[in-house]
Amino acid sequence: MNNLFSLEGKNAWITGASYGIGFNIAKAFVAAGAQNIIFNDINNEALERGLANYREAGIENVRGYVCDVTDEAAVKALVERIHEEVGQIDILVNNAGIIKRIPMHEMERKEFQQVIDVDLVAPFIVSSAVLPEMMERREGKIINICSMMSELGRETVSAYAAAKGGLKMLTRNICSEYGEYNIQCNAIGPGYIATPQTAPLR
Ligand SMILES: NC(=O)c1ccc[n+]([C@@H]2O[C@H](COP(=O)([O-])OP(=O)(O)OC[C@H]3O[C@@H](n4cnc5c(N)ncnc54)[C@H](O)[C@@H]3O)[C@@H](O)[C@H]2O)c1
Repeated sequence: MNNLFSLEGKNAWITGASYGIGFNIAKAFVAAGAQNIIFNDINNEALERGLANYREAGIENVRGYVCDVTDEAAVKALVERIHEEVGQIDILVNNAGIIKRIPMHEMERKEFQQVIDVDLVAPFIVSSAVLPEMMERREGKIINICSMMSELGRETVSAYAAAKGGLKMLTRNICSEYGEYNIQCNAIGPGYIATPQTAPLR
């Protein structure tokens, strides 16, 4: 990689980065010189799978944790643990996400809510937990993984589109609220990428 883009000395926390897009962002960050990768996943099985993927990719400077991003207390506890075991969090990538493809009129409220919780409320929870240290240092980067569905509606993805559309606006709001602390927040809205999330479509 052309290292005009250097992450030398930076610690990056990527949520849900055991595999898929998050894992590949982690690999790119390491190629750009990131000092440490931190990732979490929802359970031990996903964590172990992730650690095996990092080992296979020859990435040693990685710490993995089990943490559900919708659990506010667990996220706060993890932030403290990261500070103790790794150090400051320079970059946060809100990558963990789910999708449920169900026609809206057949979708139960709890299914809709679950997607909103993981894809929109969790980026609020995790960003809020990391912002204070970034504000104190007057430096930080937050990247939210949005979607084409941040812009478009489609059949069966009402909750996902509502969440990812909201995440786009949360991104804009973080920019306007925390720009004065030298914190930059960006969103990336990928098209279809072959990962477990899109396996049913293929
Ligand atoms: N694959 C695509 O085509 C595509 C397109 C646009 C956007 N995205 C978005 O990119 C991100 C990554 O998608 P992917 O395709 O790699 O998905 P994936 O399903 O392969 O990976 C998502 C990861 O998030 C984890 N996760 C889910 N719920 C969690 C929770 N509550 N707490 C902690 N971890 C949790 C999963 O275990 C998994 O490791 C998601 O936000 C997704 O919506 C994907």
